[in-house]
Amino acid sequence: MKENLHQKRFQKNPIKGTKFTIAISSAKGGVGKSTFATNLAIALKQIGCKVGLLDADIYGPSLPKLFSIKGKPESDGQNLKPILKYDIQCMSIGFLTDEQTPMIWRGPMVTSAIKTFAQKVLWRDLDFIIVDMPPGTGDTQLTFSQEIIMDGVIIISTPQEIALQDVKRGIKMFDKLKVNIIGLIDNMSHFTGDDGKKYPIFGEGGVKKTAEEFQKEFLGEIPINPDVGKQGDMGVPIVESKPDHEISKIYLGLAKKIKSTYL
Ligand SMILES: Nc1ncnc2c1ncn2[C@@H]1O[C@H](COP(=O)(O)OP(=O)(O)OP(=O)(O)O)[C@@H](O)[C@H]1O
Ligand SMILES: [Mg+2]
Repeated sequence: MKENLHQKRFQKNPIKGTKFTIAISSAKGGVGKSTFATNLAIALKQIGCKVGLLDADIYGPSLPKLFSIKGKPESDGQNLKPILKYDIQCMSIGFLTDEQTPMIWRGPMVTSAIKTFAQKVLWRDLDFIIVDMPPGTGDTQLTFSQEIIMDGVIIISTPQEIALQDVKRGIKMFDKLKVNIIGLIDNMSHFTGDDGKKYPIFGEGGVKKTAEEFQKEFLGEIPINPDVGKQGDMGVPIVESKPDHEISKIYLGLAKKIKSTYL
């Protein structure tokens, strides 16, 4: 058993072309992982880092829409060239398929697609690759944790009890797989009305409490703001289109923290 574990560790591969690989995860769907991954990548770029963005959601890729990318990546038959958008090197299964064609793949095919993305994409001179994970605790999370070197994972949650339940499962999975959890983000923490009052629509304080319970760092809150969704739908994330927006400032703060931790 122990030998097996040693062997597994030995078999781990770093993604070539980057110094660090950071995943954005949450066991729950729809909590804002892709929104966070894209905006954090842009914030890191804005403070001078060289960034790649790997959309690891094989069944529901978001990057083509969130970055408004319509082209196909070039290939030399062996490797794929990432598509450059907003000065970020991007890769997504969505670049290779039709927008409305569902991916009907079994687990082993997903695992092999993930490995291809990690090993056969010509990422160049990056400081960070930000990986946008699919929801759940499935094949993609396992492949990344066991076979690819991940330097850290940021866990996103919304404050509802039902989301937190899944987050706890996610934390336990990464702990078990010995992946470093950088911290937890409370996304859509509250809405500030025209009256200036804060409305905690999905509940209050749950993500911070969960972080404390599992002795993880609480990285902060991102409020609900309609501009976030609007900009995502337009294919120009808020940090790119409105760098002075209060939401963009939160992302810039987080990017600075990550940069100073790793570089
Ligand atoms: N802070 C926010 N304020 C307002 N809307 C937000 C915020 N964060 C995310 N959203 C919106 O919530 C929706 C879900 O976000 P997103 O697609 O990023 O979630 P996800 O966790 O990646 O979902 P999936 O699990 O399906 O991959 C999107 O419409 C997005 O614009
Ligand atoms: Mg997503």
